[in-house]
Amino acid sequence: MKIGSLNIGMGLIMAPMAGVTGFPFRRITHRLGADLVCTEMISAAALSRSPKICEPYLPHPMDARPISAQIFGAHPGEMAKAAAFLSERDVDLIDINMGCPVKKVIRSGSGAALLRDIHHAACVVRSVVRATPLPVTLKYRSGWDSETLCAVEMARMAESEGVAAVILHPRTKTQGFGGRSAWEHIEKVKAAVTIPVIGNGDIKTPEDAAEMFRRTGCDGIMIGRAALGDPWIFDRIRTYLLTGDVPPRPSPAEIHAVLRDQLTCEVELSGEARAVFKMRKFASWYSRGLPASTAFRDRINHVLTYEDFLGEMESFFLKINEPVKSPAFNGKTGSCHRSACES
Ligand SMILES: Cc1cc2nc3c(=O)[nH]c(=O)nc-3n(C[C@H](O)[C@H](O)[C@H](O)COP(=O)(O)O)c2cc1C
Repeated sequence: MKIGSLNIGMGLIMAPMAGVTGFPFRRITHRLGADLVCTEMISAAALSRSPKICEPYLPHPMDARPISAQIFGAHPGEMAKAAAFLSERDVDLIDINMGCPVKKVIRSGSGAALLRDIHHAACVVRSVVRATPLPVTLKYRSGWDSETLCAVEMARMAESEGVAAVILHPRTKTQGFGGRSAWEHIEKVKAAVTIPVIGNGDIKTPEDAAEMFRRTGCDGIMIGRAALGDPWIFDRIRTYLLTGDVPPRPSPAEIHAVLRDQLTCEVELSGEARAVFKMRKFASWYSRGLPASTAFRDRINHVLTYEDFLGEMESFFLKINEPVKSPAFNGKTGSCHRSACES
């Protein structure tokens, strides 16, 4: 698929996730088959006040390309400033967040709050499109609640304002992450616009990915929670779409190597204390479905140093001889939906 003139391969896209899709995890998902990776959401207000505070959330010079930078905000001027700032960095796309349901974001009129006022949403989109030479995408939800669904209207608005592709997570703001992701909304959006449509929501397996393409006619798919602890899912989806076969899940030794790589990269980037704290949740995700993982999670949650982290990982992953059976994803992420750059 293409977004503007940018080639996105088979359109297998890593979803932006606050507290997750920093440089170390982006690097891994790209290596394991994601065609496009994205920063976590960056506050336009914070970025226009003090880019230095936002530095840890910005694209990294060593990021694999293509990469998209996601911004959120309610003020057209701040959003334009943020888009212009990011366009000077190593970025290929600017993504606007109109889906975040987090209270703090909604209170500022940003994220999913913009779904309640399509005219203001259009002003925000217009200001971003005008401020950057890069293609702009819009990631949004189906509406504020089930009474005010607006997936098609938002997509039409985006297309007429010059947005290059839309990404729909077809839940409402009030649904949060509960209930069902209504893929039929993606199908309706696809029928209503000519720009590429990326479908998102509840893809857990390669078969789900194929079904999303088949049922909705979407041009690309975006995967979030299923990649937590299982970035190999991109590779499995690619193989399944190309051959009809699903490759086996990685061995505990392969999981260990990837987790170790991510931990080391995180330590170099954020320092030992922050990295160890942040990587505990990743270690839990990577250990899901493996024997004695509950005891491993308990131990890892008390680890304070890089060396001890490595030791715990080694004595857990490298002592397992069984292949990994169950999928890592159970729809639960713990409490990590947070961004220090939320402002
Ligand atoms: C921990 C977490 C953090 C998230 N952070 C963001 C974010 O920063 N920006 C965004 O647009 N969506 C964010 N999302 C939503 C995902 O990008 C995605 O739309 C949603 O999880 C549905 O896809 P999935 O069913 O594949 O997980 C987040 C989701 C989770 C679970």
